[in-house]
Amino acid sequence: MAEPITIATWPFGRTAVEAAMKALARGESALDAALAGAQAVEADTTIRNSVGFGSLPDRLGRLTLDACLMDGRTLACGAVACVEHIRHPSALARRVMEKTPHVLLVGEAAKWFALEQGFRLEVPYTLESLKEWLEKHPDRPNRETPNKNPQPAGAETSGAAAINISEFNHDTVTVLSLDAKGHLGGVCTTSGLAYKLPGRVGDSPIIGAGLYVDDTAGAAGATGVGEEILRIGGSLFIVEQMRAGKSPQEACELACRRAHAATARRGVHPTRVAFLALDPQGNVGAACTEKTNFQYAVGRGEKVELLPAKAIGPTP
Ligand code: GLY
Repeated sequence: MAEPITIATWPFGRTAVEAAMKALARGESALDAALAGAQAVEADTTIRNSVGFGSLPDRLGRLTLDACLMDGRTLACGAVACVEHIRHPSALARRVMEKTPHVLLVGEAAKWFALEQGFRLEVPYTLESLKEWLEKHPDRPNRETPNKNPQPAGAETSGAAAINISEFNHDTVTVLSLDAKGHLGGVCTTSGLAYKLPGRVGDSPIIGAGLYVDDTAGAAGATGVGEEILRIGGSLFIVEQMRAGKSPQEACELACRRAHAATARRGVHPTRVAFLALDPQGNVGAACTEKTNFQYAVGRGEKVELLPAKAIGPTP
């Protein structure tokens, strides 16, 4: 018997951890628990910037959501990307995993699949999210103030592709659980980068980038600037480091160093990434790049605490 544990990204991860720990206490599997946690965050429209309905839309004002999940017992996984009007993209990702021979469905086709599966289409906007979009999106008409948060040198890709990035506009909830039977499960869900180009998909629905879970090595998940996480295959990298004998903490720190090195070679965004990891023995790791100010929630038994992750700077 293992001691059940759940970890989740950011302070709002507490909502996910509380829901997941209740599910684990009822004897549910790690995957079911992680999914319950992710859905609790998706359902909370007060989490405005980054997950589920009520979060910040793309440049055209459309809210598109990305999610994936993975079962550490079997490596079964499913994902949806760029899907509109579906309240729980993580639940839809599960249907992809269970009802199709595929891993990833995208856009209108994912929505069609959702309808076929009995999901309802819903309006994903809140008055607050629409107001914020009207006030802040980069292409708004009669924009009066200059861009106060410019891209770093080399990142000005011109026109609509030049998107500001900060920790306030691109968070993700990644939930990793270990159940009493010693199995691992994980879910990652996001609305991605605020004011992104239509069609942009980050790391979150990509198995190996935003999430990877394997009972024989460990589980890892990511948050932060998706392009820089994709560039290094962040979550699979961490799981393979654990398979090779690194602790979850060492593996997360190595991923941050790799992200710094990759950004130095090709980065188009600031290296603001953070990683979480959990091994089959219940050991936890977390690390972030500097200026990411990343905190994560940990639940063991009835206790849930919020912890700061170790910040890793570029290696000189
Ligand atoms: N990590 C979320 C995203 O960049 O889409």
